[in-house]
Amino acid sequence: MHTEAQHVHSGQTLRTDAPVDHAGKGENFAPTDLLATAVGTCFLTVMGITAKEKGWGLGEITVEIEKKMTTHGPRKIESLLLQIEMPSDLESDQLKVLRKATKDCPVLRNLDDSIRINVQWNQSKSKKKTSLNFVPTNVFRETPQVTFFDAGVKGSNGSDVVIHHGSAISPPNDDEIEQYYMHHHQVDHNLVLAGRRTFTLLNPEWEEPHHVIYLNQKMGALQIPIGTYHRSVSGPEGSIVLNQAVRDSDFDPTKEFKPVSLRHQADLQKAKTADPVFWIWEDGKIRRLKVSGISSGKKQITA
Ligand SMILES: [Fe+2]
Repeated sequence: MHTEAQHVHSGQTLRTDAPVDHAGKGENFAPTDLLATAVGTCFLTVMGITAKEKGWGLGEITVEIEKKMTTHGPRKIESLLLQIEMPSDLESDQLKVLRKATKDCPVLRNLDDSIRINVQWNQSKSKKKTSLNFVPTNVFRETPQVTFFDAGVKGSNGSDVVIHHGSAISPPNDDEIEQYYMHHHQVDHNLVLAGRRTFTLLNPEWEEPHHVIYLNQKMGALQIPIGTYHRSVSGPEGSIVLNQAVRDSDFDPTKEFKPVSLRHQADLQKAKTADPVFWIWEDGKIRRLKVSGISSGKKQITA
């Protein structure tokens, strides 16, 4: 049931297959999917044309389309539901103009009387700035091979010592899939006492949702805010970390340490694919490095 269409002007090809519920294998767009796609791409195109005329930058707009076929009578598309996600930085006046522009979509004009088309407009929430802090330790005495430092964190009401014997992973993987802790009522302050510990932090609400921190004792206590997913890994020599937590009155240890697997968390999977920000100790200070384009292979490092 495969077909191939060629666009004469550009030479581009487009393939279709019949859907699984209609004698096909569903290996490509069904012809009726193309009709749904025509509506979605038409909406995007007219918004793009309008933005260009106005001199606006649009950012990323996504359209998700749900197609419903008839269950009785002749087989045809009964309805389409378009869910349009607009960028967070557009003003309400701009949204109004762009929404109005979609009424001029030629495909919509052709279909309007024959298919029920519902449109839901959403605007993504603006992302928060990254909130990552290192609480410095105060080294008040050093003698040969001995360091005395004040490990206190203001407001801390919990002191947990976490020992990794060898190359431990915390929390452990779910088969091969990474797992993370996330606290609702506890801010962590992780201070490395011995060895080195690599923390990965994911926070889908941050502009930079993915961080990798090569934490050592000199960097101070890594503060992990509420709502931030985190996991840590030690090298073969293991490590000892003192976590001086700040817990609120609703803290319940039975609820705060439940590992969350990436397996079913689309928002975390997306955060993990974002270019990471690396935090390292170099020349006596904490350095923040952003490596962009890891996936494209064109790396660019900015401090
Ligand atoms: Fe934690």
